[in-house]
Amino acid sequence: MFMGMTMQMKTNIKDKLQKIDKDHLKLLSDIGIVAEKTDLKAYLVGGMVRDILLGYENLDIDIVVENNASKLAEALVKRFPNCELSAKHDKFHTAKVIFNINGKKIPVDLASTREEIYEHPAALPTVSVSDLKKDLYRRDFTINALAVSILPHNFGEVADLFHGLDDLKDKKIRVLHDLSFIDDPTRMIRAVRFAVKLGFEIEEHTKLLLNDAMKSGKFDNLIQKIRGDRVKIEIRYLFNLQNVEEAIKAFFESGIYKMISVNLKPCRGLSRQAPTNILRDCSRQWLIYLAVIIKDLKTDEQEKILTNLQMTSDEIKIVNKGISTYSDLVNRSINITSVYQSLKHIPNESVILINLLAKLENNEKIGSLIDEYIENISKIKLNICGDDLIGLGVKEGKEIGKILDKIMELKIKNPSMKKDDEIEEAKKLLKD
Ligand code: CTP
Repeated sequence: MFMGMTMQMKTNIKDKLQKIDKDHLKLLSDIGIVAEKTDLKAYLVGGMVRDILLGYENLDIDIVVENNASKLAEALVKRFPNCELSAKHDKFHTAKVIFNINGKKIPVDLASTREEIYEHPAALPTVSVSDLKKDLYRRDFTINALAVSILPHNFGEVADLFHGLDDLKDKKIRVLHDLSFIDDPTRMIRAVRFAVKLGFEIEEHTKLLLNDAMKSGKFDNLIQKIRGDRVKIEIRYLFNLQNVEEAIKAFFESGIYKMISVNLKPCRGLSRQAPTNILRDCSRQWLIYLAVIIKDLKTDEQEKILTNLQMTSDEIKIVNKGISTYSDLVNRSINITSVYQSLKHIPNESVILINLLAKLENNEKIGSLIDEYIENISKIKLNICGDDLIGLGVKEGKEIGKILDKIMELKIKNPSMKKDDEIEEAKKLLKD
């Protein structure tokens, strides 16, 4: 046991825990009861603790067990018929169980208290079982290194071994040790994310470590050297933030952009209010902003970045179609019909991207035509279909699509066309 620990264990957040969703609260207490019966110590850790203390909703249950997660997982499955073991990784000392409560599936991640040793910077760590203090010490920031006991005898007691509670109060993002960013450079993106999201400050020494790491050049073009999927996850979180303009500003000012590519440049227009309202229905905001950021790079570098970030083919398509269609629209004379032709087969997110690019570059012509496309044109539907044309004697095949397309162009100019008008136009086209 550590000296500091006995002193700090006095803070209890039972009152705050009472305010979370009732099913989750009951679950935490049930898990604690089983842990105590099994002679194991179990703590709620990570983002959920941080967010409960800040008053935000977060129901991602991460439990650390001192020191045998699989033993607790097995005991839970044995004790609760509504609990199934969905994964068990002995090498990482982790397990996942899923509870079925009132028709709701609630996943619970369990991990043995672990120590991580990084053989070399940015490598995947070697993991071995440890005590709670070492487990908390391996984490990114003090505000994420708080553990809350869920055992019945001291439910809600906080193990605050690195002054995380003070940092939460003072709104500081602070690493636990000087090698934190070297061990895991994705933490630099996380530092920026938590600062922007929570309105916190990166504490002075931590800022110095981050600046030094980025200035050293060791993390330049990092995604060419390490698995890009972890960087992608963090970029997704960062650019999905509601205050995304602030996130992007911090992304450039902190220097962390260099992990993606040293050739990136702060984008024009984002310092003023970007039209985020057009993204209100888009779950892939992050992808659209990533595209905005890489748009001015050479095409082959853009492609390398997307591949290194391990983007899916759908994601790559959204970015590529958006960027290439935008530059195509910039370089030719356009009207609403040609805009319709350019946009009709590309993903919605690409259309939103083009609109954002137009707004950021003050290209009013493209911007207003795309607004018109999103608001009105994309909603226009023909009343006739291929079968109607077959009824008029058209043979099955490509011709049908071409005729429907021409009628659509007419309908864009005259949206009040009825089915009869469309059939008349089809007949005229067939005569020509
Ligand atoms: N963690 C870490 N280093 C990382 C990622 C995660 O130390 N690079 C630790 C932190 O203690 C973190 C916990 O693992 O709180 C869970 O990580 P994650 O689920 O990614 O983040 P949360 O902190 O839960 O935050 P959020 O849910 O907002 O992403």
